Amino acid sequence: MQALVINGPNINLLGIREPELYGNKDYSDLVELCQQAGAEAGFSAVSCFQTNHEGEIVDAIQEARFSFDGIIINPAAYTHTSIAILDALQAVNLPAVEVHISDVDARESFRQISYTGKACFARVAGEGIQGYARALQLLAVHLKTSHER
Ligand code: DQA
Repeated sequence: MQALVINGPNINLLGIREPELYGNKDYSDLVELCQQAGAEAGFSAVSCFQTNHEGEIVDAIQEARFSFDGIIINPAAYTHTSIAILDALQAVNLPAVEVHISDVDARESFRQISYTGKACFARVAGEGIQGYARALQLLAVHLKTSHER
């Protein structure tokens, strides 16, 4: 069971970027957390990918269908704009969980719209980077129960 964690624009600046919203941990802490939480949830491998470019997220989702069982995705600002990322998630049809570090529902109205979430079976928001651990647990349970059926 393998998971791909995709992070979109500016997530590489964790720890520097608006710490009151996104916390003090940096991107390498996030990668470590995902690998540890993924192993605890039963994944044999968790790969983490970050890019500031929309098309690279589309490419990563398309390629994921060859090597991953599911996707954790924080599309960052592209959450609120990207039909291309939504289409890619729907095209590969891998189970996906959307994560947001901040509580997007309590922020500006434009952040309360999610195109990409329409292709995800669950969403975790407002739990800081720990939200990725919960998303990996949700994905593991989803994969185990869908294999049992
Ligand atoms: C974010 C929320 C988005 O609105 C924002 O553009 C981000 C990060 C989050 O993780 O809280 O870049 O996805």
